Amino acid sequence: EKVIKIGLLGLGTVGRGVYRILEENRENIQRRAGVKLEVKRILVRSLEKERGISIPNDYLTTNINDITNDPEIKIVVEVLGGIHPTLDYVLEALNKGKSVVTANKDMVAQHGQRLFKAAQNNQCDLLFEASVAGGIPIIRTLKQSLAGNCIEEVFGIINGTTNYMLTKMSQGGCEFGDVLQEAQAKGYAEADPTSDVEGFDAARKIAILASIAFNSRVQLNEVYTEGITRITADDIAYAGELGYNIKLLGIAKDRTEGIEVRVHPTFIPKDHPLATVGDVFNAVFVRGNAVGDTMFYGKGAGELPTASAVVADIMDAARDIVRNVPGFIGCTCFREKPVLGIGE
Ligand code: NDP
Ligand code: HSE
Repeated sequence: EKVIKIGLLGLGTVGRGVYRILEENRENIQRRAGVKLEVKRILVRSLEKERGISIPNDYLTTNINDITNDPEIKIVVEVLGGIHPTLDYVLEALNKGKSVVTANKDMVAQHGQRLFKAAQNNQCDLLFEASVAGGIPIIRTLKQSLAGNCIEEVFGIINGTTNYMLTKMSQGGCEFGDVLQEAQAKGYAEADPTSDVEGFDAARKIAILASIAFNSRVQLNEVYTEGITRITADDIAYAGELGYNIKLLGIAKDRTEGIEVRVHPTFIPKDHPLATVGDVFNAVFVRGNAVGDTMFYGKGAGELPTASAVVADIMDAARDIVRNVPGFIGCTCFREKPVLGIGE
């Protein structure tokens, strides 16, 4: 019986979810992947921390070499977050010939090219479905299911924390700081929630989506970014009286002159489908020149929805290893199309 061993980097909100799904859905996963998947080691910062999940003691380690130097581990799942030391760990894993699955939009948006090159050079998979819109399979959809289209625009609600906050604030009696704390307690927010409320997290995600959708390289500093920190419960109430909900949108359009990419709070008419996307849900519209309008909806953050996307990537990586065909399949031919400034 063939078994593929996994090294898990991180056992926080997402890492716990990945471990749980791999345990609870083990038989189904094995049947579908055609191979048994087993976590062998888990990298954490603290060995003493209470984790609320039953894991054999010898799985946990604080030494990355226990994972990157273990030839038995074929897939590394990165759910640590951040750039340092994470980027080094991921490059090390790829350079040792291990496929990598990550949920880290920060790292993919800033260092994607370097990582894709390392994956290609080492004939490994680099998969990152969970990096955008949590449980919604939007990256695979753009890369595969809609691959025959020229994508004209991608836009939507791509940050669960701020959507949760705006939803709560619209229901009255909730202040910004309190609802942010609730979103943090639910495991939706980034380690530094400034990324969520200032729009940086959504900017990373729309940069990734625009790069894939338009076969381009959209840099983070090219995304006009405005968050929700200046929005008050009163603003939301006044917008409501005028027939609008306020939502933080990520927007990317492929125009003749160049690519438009931005993140900002937007007035959405109450009868528009995006207006009713509440709680931690995300929704992404994609317009392709063949398919027309499509919309994808689901939970954009949280333990199990995010881990659902990570586990699907692990299964894809495992299938590629079994068939002996790993290797990043993505855009090899980029267009050098300019990203437009606001108002251009
Ligand atoms: P958490 O903060 O809950 O968990 C991070 C984990 O990584 C912890 O187990 C921590 O160890 C470990 N860790 C962090 N740094 C180090 C280090 N230097 N060395 C060893 N271990 C380390 O984060 P999340 O699970 O929420 O997020 C993980 C990633 O997934 C991030 O990139 C995030 O952006 C992304 N993501 C998160 C989503 C969510 O809903 N939370 C949704 C989509 C993506 P210890 O437990 O010992 O402190
Ligand atoms: N902090 C992010 C959010 C996690 O709230 O959307 C999911 O990427």
